[in-house]
Amino acid sequence: MLIDTYGRVATDLRVSLTDRCNLRCTYCMPEEGLQWLAKPDLLTDDEIVRLITIAVRDLGIEEVRFTGGEPLLRPGLVGIVERVAALTPRPQMSLTTNGIGLQRTARALRDAGLDRVNVSLDTLRPDVFQALTRRKRHADVLDGLAAARDAGLTPVKVNTVLMPGLNDDEAPDLLAWAIAQDYELRFIEQMPLDAQHGWKRDGMITAGDILASLRTRFELTPEGQEARGAAPAERWLVDGGPHRVGVIASVTRPFCRACDRTRLTADGQIRTCLFATEETDLRGALRSGAPDDEIARIWKLAMWGKKAGSGLDDPSFLQPDRPMSAIGG
Ligand code: GTP
Ligand code: 5AD
Ligand code: SF4
Repeated sequence: MLIDTYGRVATDLRVSLTDRCNLRCTYCMPEEGLQWLAKPDLLTDDEIVRLITIAVRDLGIEEVRFTGGEPLLRPGLVGIVERVAALTPRPQMSLTTNGIGLQRTARALRDAGLDRVNVSLDTLRPDVFQALTRRKRHADVLDGLAAARDAGLTPVKVNTVLMPGLNDDEAPDLLAWAIAQDYELRFIEQMPLDAQHGWKRDGMITAGDILASLRTRFELTPEGQEARGAAPAERWLVDGGPHRVGVIASVTRPFCRACDRTRLTADGQIRTCLFATEETDLRGALRSGAPDDEIARIWKLAMWGKKAGSGLDDPSFLQPDRPMSAIGG
């Protein structure tokens, strides 16, 4: 079991499969991209499967989420999913993606055993999409979303970050669209995880702003704490249900007390938190021939040291060195 000194148990593993991406979202990466991890530093498919096997078999992990950068850029993704689906106990498996390429791979991922996907989409307007991501791929994302739904990778969730002056007027339109398409929409407060370190608290759209904007067109009823569990999203029923909308308010309403996550970066480091400033090296142990029980011991020790929270509200808060794209959301 991966337990920390606050009694929280990590049952959810987020695995970053690459730090690369084919978009350049302004809240994440600069136009020119970043210094990517070198190939020899990345875990191989076999190493990833071995670590997930230990996590599932020996450490109580019940859900595995593949993230990036953009995880669909990892050539071995379908094979990794297939091998993880064969584990006992079989974990739940999900993918967080920007949706580009999903149109081609949704069916193969489903057949390999993937349960569901979360797709990032911040706007319904192609021109705003291009300003935000610096790429003309809006139609690809919409096609990827539809393919995921049609392949049964459901519920398909859509993650939206609102930014002032860019897309903050779109919340009700996005919700109406998501309901019509049968996607579950979640708005995410922008976090200080951009590579450029340009985040400012007072320049951020808050959960309060988002709810006020949605309430101009919809009636929202809180879903209640029991239904939420350790999920980062608070949810509301829209116009009495059955459709829901979520808000992930990491900044203004942190949910660290219920956190059930452990993270593995593409270069084999354990992170106890999105905002952790320290990491624990598993790749070195793997490559020096450590047996499974030694890997499990290192992982447990790392999680034992998990901090109480993100520290976002501390005056001494320091943004982690790694940007979101290299942590894996
Ligand atoms: P579901 O199980 O589908 O609800 O997944 P999820 O919301 O945990 O995953 P997803 O990858 O879609 O992440 C959505 C947003 O939640 C992203 O902006 C993540 O960075 C954020 N998020 C995920 N895990 C954490 C966390 O441990 N702490 C904080 N503060 N935010 C998180
Ligand atoms: N703040 C909040 N969410 C972010 N994402 C990427 N960078 C940030 C940030 N700085 C979102 C993406 C994706 C999810 C994994 O995290 O839009 O949906
Ligand atoms: Fe790529 Fe995701 Fe970063 Fe956008 S937020 S540039 S889709 S890794």
